[in-house]
Amino acid sequence: MIIFERGEHKAVVFRGYTPPGHVQANQFLIVDSGQGLLADPGGRVVFNKLIAEMSKFVPPPRVKYLFFSHQDPDILGAAAVWYTGLENAKILLPDVWLRFLPHSFHHSIDLEGRVLGIPEEGLNVKLGECELQLIPAHFLHSPGNFQIYDPCLKLLYSGDLFASLFPSNVDYDVAESFESHVRYMEFFHRRYIPSQRAVQRWLQKVKDLEIEAVVPQHGAIIKGEENVKKSINWVSGIKGYLDD
Ligand SMILES: [Fe+2]
Ligand SMILES: [Fe+2]
Repeated sequence: MIIFERGEHKAVVFRGYTPPGHVQANQFLIVDSGQGLLADPGGRVVFNKLIAEMSKFVPPPRVKYLFFSHQDPDILGAAAVWYTGLENAKILLPDVWLRFLPHSFHHSIDLEGRVLGIPEEGLNVKLGECELQLIPAHFLHSPGNFQIYDPCLKLLYSGDLFASLFPSNVDYDVAESFESHVRYMEFFHRRYIPSQRAVQRWLQKVKDLEIEAVVPQHGAIIKGEENVKKSINWVSGIKGYLDD
């Protein structure tokens, strides 16, 4: 578990909960002034442990938002249990995936009630005293996909962009240097990111943000101005699946 904090504002990254045989996935909790946002909470297998651990930072009824960056099973596979477990939370999900969500439930859900579609161009959401920015990152890799920028800690929750996949004998929480880390990002980006055009569109949205750490949904956190800058430079030159 990695914690970033400034005053009443906290970010918690849960890294070690995915069992072998599942793609490793990180889960995230942002807390400001007693309100919480849980992001990309993973599949059903991590639910019991994650709800117990996150409750140490914010009581479940005080979680205001349940954010799903996109539609993959490692993101919203446990949507139904979280919907029940976080009784006051509103689901935030890209607009284009809204009508797919009910397939994760045993019962009908009211899309007008506790589910908010994130519009194509993005959305700002207030959490306590902090205004989080939901930034479009469409086709990186999912056609409807958002990242969270937290201006209160200058963190970018990048979803699958900057994901690293480690071999079984390697694991670390924070990438100490871009040069030794980039090898673990290469395969994923080459295969799952469709095209440089998608990267360029995203770059326009984030180019003016101050980012102290990039927190991806898989693998290690990229920390420090220099490492972040090198990583963004690298991604701005990668070849996606359709780029040859
Ligand atoms: Fe994904
Ligand atoms: Fe993912």
